[in-house]
Amino acid sequence: MGVYDELFTASVEDPERFWLDAATAIDWHVAPTRALDDSRPPFYRWFPDGELNVCHNALDRHVDAGHGDRPALVHDSPVTESQRTFTYRELRDEVAAFAGVLAGLGVGRGDRVVIYLPMIAEAAVAMLACARIGAVHSVVFGGFAPKELAVRIDDATPSVIVSASCGIEGKRVIEYKPLLDKAIELASHRPEHCVILQRPQAEAAMGERDVDWASAVAGATPADCVPVKATDPLYILYTSGTTGKPKGVVRDGGGYAVALNWSMPNVYDVGAGETIFTASDVGWVVGHSYIVYAPLLAGATTVLYEGKPVGTPDAGQFWRVVAEHGVKSLFTAPTAFRAIKKEDPNGEYARKYDLSSLKYLFLAGERLDPETYRWAADLLEIPVIDHWWQTETGWPIVANPAGIELLPVKPGSPTRPLPGWDVQVLDANGKPVEAGTDGAIVVKLPMPPGSLPTLWNDDERFLSSYMNAFEGYYLTGDGGRLDEDGYVYVMGRTDDVINVAGHRLSTGGMEEVLASHPDVAECAVIGVADRMKGQVPRGFVVLKAGVERDEDELRAELVQLVRDQVGAVASLKDVAVVAALPKTRSGKILRKTMRGIADGADEPVPGTIDDASVLDALRPVLRRE
Ligand code: COA
Ligand code: AMP
Repeated sequence: MGVYDELFTASVEDPERFWLDAATAIDWHVAPTRALDDSRPPFYRWFPDGELNVCHNALDRHVDAGHGDRPALVHDSPVTESQRTFTYRELRDEVAAFAGVLAGLGVGRGDRVVIYLPMIAEAAVAMLACARIGAVHSVVFGGFAPKELAVRIDDATPSVIVSASCGIEGKRVIEYKPLLDKAIELASHRPEHCVILQRPQAEAAMGERDVDWASAVAGATPADCVPVKATDPLYILYTSGTTGKPKGVVRDGGGYAVALNWSMPNVYDVGAGETIFTASDVGWVVGHSYIVYAPLLAGATTVLYEGKPVGTPDAGQFWRVVAEHGVKSLFTAPTAFRAIKKEDPNGEYARKYDLSSLKYLFLAGERLDPETYRWAADLLEIPVIDHWWQTETGWPIVANPAGIELLPVKPGSPTRPLPGWDVQVLDANGKPVEAGTDGAIVVKLPMPPGSLPTLWNDDERFLSSYMNAFEGYYLTGDGGRLDEDGYVYVMGRTDDVINVAGHRLSTGGMEEVLASHPDVAECAVIGVADRMKGQVPRGFVVLKAGVERDEDELRAELVQLVRDQVGAVASLKDVAVVAALPKTRSGKILRKTMRGIADGADEPVPGTIDDASVLDALRPVLRRE
C-alpha cells in the first residue's frame, strides 16, 4: 500500500484517532478530548469539548513563535497599480485594531457581520477580526445585485455590515455604497452600523449609520482573541440552491481549522514560509478557505489578487504574480485558464517570466476539460491538479494529494477521495452501482471536519437538501461514477445549480426573476455548455395570452431584470420567446431534455412526455438552427 492508501484507510477506519492526531497541529485554549460527537446523526459535531480561536491560530501564534516578520498577505492589485505586503505582525495588528472597532460598535460573540467588499486586504482583515472576537462573518460576493445582498442580510440579521466605497471590475469603477444602501432598503432587517472603507477611486457619501473605516481604526482599542467553542460558527457562506433563496452554509471553527491546516501540506504541498496564490474571490468558498484561512493557519504567505486573468491589463498577470512573489502553488478555476489561452494561445506571456518557483497548478470550481488540462500541462510542465469540492464541504473531497504522493493521473478524473471522504455512487434506489456506472455521488456519513454541520437557522432544509435522499449519506448534487481503481469522475450537477465561469448560480433563482415579469406566463432556464465559461444560462419564456410585444424589446427587459436582481455574474444574455415548454404528463418541465438537445446530444425523448410536438417545435430553437 502507498502512503495515500494507508492514510485514507486510517481516516475511514478510525476517524476519531485520525482527526484527534491532526488536531494537535492547532493551538487550543481547551484541547479536545474527543474528535467526533455522533450522538445526533446526521447532525455530527467535531471536537465537541474543544475551545480555540481561529484568528489566534491564523496570526498570533505565528507571531508568538517568532515569525512576526514573515510575509502573511500580499495584496497585488494591477487594477490600482499597487502592491502591499503585510507581515504576520502587521496583519495581526490591523486585525486586532479592526476587531476593536467592531467590539466598539457592540459586536460580540455569536453576532453576525456581513462583509461586502472587493478584493482588498481589508476583506481578509474584516473576516479575521470577526473570528478574533467570536463574531460570525458572512461575506457576500461583490458581483451580486442588491436584491441578493438583501436576501442574505435578512437571513443572517447582521448588527454591522462592512463595505467599501467601490470595487474595480476590469477598467470599470463600481460604486458599492449605493448598492449597499439599496440592499438595506430592500431588506426587512436593519443593521445598526455600516463600516465603510473609502477608496480614492470613488468616495462614498456617508449617512447616519455609516462609520468611516480609517477614522474608526485610528481611534480603536485593539481587541484580543476570544476563545470560543470548536463547534461555534465561524462563518455563514450563502450558496445557490435550487430556489432563489440561497442556502446559508454554516462553518464551525474547530473542525475547519483542523481540516484546512491538514490540507495545506498534504494536498497543496505548501508549508510555513511558502507562497500560495489562489486566484478566486473572497466571496466564494475557495477564497474563504485558500486565500484567507488555510494559508494563514499554515504560516504560509497568501496572495490576494485584485484583477482578472486577462485584461488587467494583459494575459500575463498570473505569471507576473508567480514570478514577483515566488508562488509555489497556483489555484484557480479552469475558466481563468481558458481566458488566458484565448488571449495568448502560444503562452508567450508565460515565457517572459521566471516561473521556476511554481510547482503545481490546482484547478477547481467546474469540470476541467481535457483541452485546457493539456494546454496548461504542456505550457507549465508541472503537475496540473484537478480537484473537486463544494461550498458545503469547505475543502476538497477528491484531489491528487500532492503533499502525500502524486497518484497517476487519469484525464477527466480529479483522482481519488482525500482522507476522511468516503465517496460512493448510488442508484435511484440507494444501492451502490458497479464501478464504471453513473449515479448520484454521495459521501458516507460522517463527513470529515470542515464540512457543513447544518444550514443557518434551517436544520429542516439541511435535511431535505442533503440528508434525506439516502439515509446515512450526504447527497452532493453531482452525478458521476467511480472506476475500478477508485477514481472519481464528476459529470455535472443533477439539480438546478449551474457553474458560470466558476460562479455557482441557481437556474431556479433566475426563473423566479423571469417569472416576475408581468408579460411572462411561464419560463425555464437551463445551463448550456460554453467554451469559455464552462456553462452559461439560457432562458425560454412563454408569454401570457393576449400579450403582444416587440420580442427584441422584451428580451432586453428580461436580460436586464436578471442583471438587476441577481447580478451581472449571472451572464444571462440569451432569452427566447417560445409558444410552449415541453412537459411531462404531471406538468414537470423537461429541463434535462432541453439541456441535452441544446448541447447537441442525441437526447432521447422521455416516455413521460405529455406532448412530443412541443419538443419538436422547440428543437431548432434549442439547437439555434
Ligand atoms: N463585482 C461586480 N461585477 C462583477 C464582479 C464583481 N466582483 N465579478 C464579475 N462581475 C461582472 C463582470 O464585470 C461581467 O460584467 P459584464 O457582463 O458587464 O461584462 C459579469 O459580471 C460577468 O463576469 P464574468 O463571468 O467574470 O465574466 P468576464 O467576461 O468579466 O470574465 C473571466 C471572464 C474568465 C476572466 C472571469 O470569469 C474569471 O476570472 N473567472 C474566474 C472565476 C473564479 O475565480 N471563480 C472562483 C471559483 S474557484
Ligand atoms: P461551489 O460550491 O461554488 O464550490 O460549486 C461546487 C460545484 O462546482 C460542485 O458541486 C461541482 O458541480 C462543481 N465543481 C467543483 N469542482 C469541480 C471539479 N473539479 N470537477 C467538476 N465539477 C466541479
